[in-house]
Amino acid sequence: MNLGQIFKNIVPVLSRRKISIPKVIHKLSYSTEEKVVPEINKKVIHVTFIKANGEKIKVNGTVGDSLLDVVVNNNIDLDGFGACEGTLTCSTCHLVFSDKDYNELPEKPSDEELDMLDLAYDLTDTSRLGCQIILTEKLDGLEVKVPATINDARE
Ligand code: FES
Repeated sequence: MNLGQIFKNIVPVLSRRKISIPKVIHKLSYSTEEKVVPEINKKVIHVTFIKANGEKIKVNGTVGDSLLDVVVNNNIDLDGFGACEGTLTCSTCHLVFSDKDYNELPEKPSDEELDMLDLAYDLTDTSRLGCQIILTEKLDGLEVKVPATINDARE
C-alpha cells in the first residue's frame, strides 16, 4: 500500500469524526492514486539467446535487467529456465558466453554462483547463471547460448 492509499483510507474516517484534515494530506490522498510513475529512461539492450538446436531468439532488455528478467519479460520458451526465480538455488538459468563477452561481464561470479554452476550440465569456462548477469550498456548485442539440458539442483 502506498502513501496515497494510506491517506485515502484515513481521510474518510477523519472526516466522519469531524477531525480537521490538513489540506496537504487531503490533496495527497487523491493526487498520488492515479498518478502514473514516469518510466526512467532506460537504454534498450539487444540480446540474442541461441538454443541448442541453433534457433536464435532476439529480444530486448533494458539496463539493470538480469538475463532471467529478459527471458521472463519476453516470454521466451526455455523449458525449466529460472526455476528458483533468481534465488541462486537451481542452476537452470545456466548460459554460455563467448570468451569476449564473458570477460566484459560487469561482475565476476560470486562463490555462491560458482557452487551452483558446479551443478549445471554442460559446464564451460565461460558459463554463468543468467539470473546473476545484470545488463549494462556495454552488453548491447550480447549473444548467449542456452545449453541443451538443464539441471534443477533443487531436485
Ligand atoms: S534462476 Fe535459479 S540459479 Fe538462477
